[in-house]
Formats: sequence, C-alpha cells, structure tokens
Amino acid sequence: MTFITFEGIEGSGKTTQIRLLMDWLRDRSDRVLLTREPGGTSIGEQIRAVLLNPINTEMTPEAEILLFSAARAQIVREIIRPRLKEGWIVICDRFADSTLAYQGYGHGLPLDDLLQITEFATGGLWPDLTIYLDLDVETGLRRKAATPEEWNRMEAQAIDFHKRVRRGYLQLAAQNPGRWLVLDATQSVAVIQAQIRARVRQLLGGKNADNTDENHA
Ligand code: TMP
Repeated sequence: MTFITFEGIEGSGKTTQIRLLMDWLRDRSDRVLLTREPGGTSIGEQIRAVLLNPINTEMTPEAEILLFSAARAQIVREIIRPRLKEGWIVICDRFADSTLAYQGYGHGLPLDDLLQITEFATGGLWPDLTIYLDLDVETGLRRKAATPEEWNRMEAQAIDFHKRVRRGYLQLAAQNPGRWLVLDATQSVAVIQAQIRARVRQLLGGKNADNTDENHA
C-alpha cells in the first residue's frame, strides 16, 4: 500500500503533474487510484460544492474546517483505506496538510485543535509521501487570473492569506522532511515530473522491486 498526496497553493501546477504521474504509474500497475479533496465521493463532492461556492461568504473558519473534515472522514473510509488495504497505490490531490496550511496558517485557527480534528477524521492515516509544488503567491494567482470570475471561494481570499498558506506549507515540510518532497514549481513541467518520478520510483522500489523498471521512465 502506498499513499501519495500532492499539495500546493493555487496555480502551482498540481493538476498537470498529477496527470503525468498517473500516466506513468498506470503503465506499471492497474491498481492505481487518483482521487481528490475535498470530494472524491458522492457525499464529499456535495460538501465540496458548499465549501467552494463563492456565494457562501459568511462561512466561518470553524465551519469550514468541519466541512473539510467531514468530506475527509468519508473519503478515507469509503475509498482510501479500502484501496490501500487491497495493495493499491492511492494518489490524492490535497489531503490533511491542506487543512493545516489553509485553515491553520491561513486563517490562524489553532494547529493543536486542527490536528485533533484531523486525526479524528482520518483515523490517524497520513501519506507515505507528500509532494509539494512550491511557488510564490503572485505567480500562482497570476496563472489563475485568466478567469477570475471563475475563482472559487478559497481562491478569492486576500493575497496575504495565500502568503501565510505558502509559509505554512514550507514549515510543515521542514518539520517532516522524510515525508515531504518540496519542488520548485517554476521549473519546466518535464523537469518537475522527472523529480517526482525519481522519488516515487524510490518509494515503490522500497516496497516492491517489480515497480522499479527503468525502461518505462
Ligand atoms: P482545488 O482542489 O481546486 O485546489 O481547490 C480546493 C480548495 O480548497 C483550495 O483552495 C484549497 C482548499 N482546501 C482547504 O482550504 N482545506 C482543505 O483541507 C482542503 C482539502 C482544501
């Protein structure tokens, strides 16, 4: 079982990198699952719609964390844990670290409370590897700015909020370097993808030597 998550601020290029990694992994195994947070289940996608709807300007940070956590509790038990138990590789676009970065560092909610709520929601599940695509906030939001009218509720937060989120990610990564792979997201798509594959190959190699076939690189 291998659980890999992707993290990053808006516009960091997560989606592109995840798609390329999935192409590579699916060439190696038919037991690879991609999912996302918030969402990934029918209940989670309904919660996602509430969380990201720009109309919900009155949502408090406390309500926000509980909604993110409710979606997480569902996906962990309905999808992630069962697949991991069956030996699948599960890739998740965002996971609990998003809560620590956005609700903790971004909104300033106490990290101890968030960790407790998160542990309850996940039942103590943490990723084997978290890939963080690091980018300065201005560049990230500029990449997204092409369609500002489509920004979701989180993207529409003030620039200082996103700066705190980025600082939070870097602190989280520094506290647990064994789990985090921090990559400079200003590099080319191909270079970033090569760095991701090298690390994932290493991770899978440690678990299953069959997955280390260099010819597929
Ligand atoms: P995305 O999936 O398109 O990146 O959008 C999800 C948004 O929700 C993004 O702005 C990050 C935010 N988010 C949180 O604030 N806390 C969380 O726990 C998660 C999973 C996401």
